[in-house]
Amino acid sequence: MKIGFWGSGNMARVLGGAWAVAGHTIMFGSRDAEKARAIAAEIGLGATGGTNDEVAASCEVIVSSVRAVPSSFLTSTAAIAGKIILDLNNRDFPREYQPEDFLNALAVATQQDVPAAKVVKALNNQAMEVFNANAATLQAAGIQGFIAGDDAEAKQITTALLQDIGLKAIDFGGLSNAWLLEVQADILRTYMFATGNALVTPGLIAAPKAEARFGDRCQGTY
Ligand SMILES: NC(=O)c1ccc[n+]([C@@H]2O[C@H](COP(=O)([O-])OP(=O)(O)OC[C@H]3O[C@@H](n4cnc5c(N)ncnc54)[C@H](OP(=O)(O)O)[C@@H]3O)[C@@H](O)[C@H]2O)c1
Repeated sequence: MKIGFWGSGNMARVLGGAWAVAGHTIMFGSRDAEKARAIAAEIGLGATGGTNDEVAASCEVIVSSVRAVPSSFLTSTAAIAGKIILDLNNRDFPREYQPEDFLNALAVATQQDVPAAKVVKALNNQAMEVFNANAATLQAAGIQGFIAGDDAEAKQITTALLQDIGLKAIDFGGLSNAWLLEVQADILRTYMFATGNALVTPGLIAAPKAEARFGDRCQGTY
């Protein structure tokens, strides 16, 4: 397919490179067509570069790696009617990110309710069906259980308890991060309701490590 990119930054470079290797025709687009052409030359494999408008006009699938809507950087959006746009953008995520709506974690409410206790958020992301399998089976499957809490000893004990039933505890930091684990459960349950599959658990799965094929990460976004 002819795959184009709006924006020629980090993600465009590595995905363009990977799809070029897979045999697709790649066009990089940029606000600066010269920059896009230089990246295309770096990648090789027949990749070309041009303006974002040219990408819109000539590509079948367009990856938007620009945190902005198309009408803000294209002369016209007419050319993209009916085309597939893959949106890989994530909103800015400052380390101190704590959106008001999600902050009222149940675990934090419990801690506030009983300040003298040591609350650890744990086990909210494994459906009950997961524990039909025994500890050895879950351990072999590499099932992870995220935990968050403020008391180191309480987390140590939780880690051991999770291990006893086959889960590898992953420390997610303090209780102020519990909201993230609760939101993660929303993601998981949405998937469960859509598919009926309760045997899916979240985990941090390491991608295979390899040398940079298409250049190192430059200053950019995550
Ligand atoms: N980097 C990652 O590991 C990663 C992983 C998953 C998802 N993401 C998401 O993917 C998106 C791109 O990340 P990235 O690391 O590739 O960022 P990046 O290196 O900064 O590239 C983004 C490109 O978008 C273009 N751009 C920026 N602002 C623009 C504007 N106002 N109008 C038009 N073009 C604009 C720029 O390209 P030109 O200068 O060529 O016009 C820029 O190089 C972000 O939303 C990020 O959250 C990133």
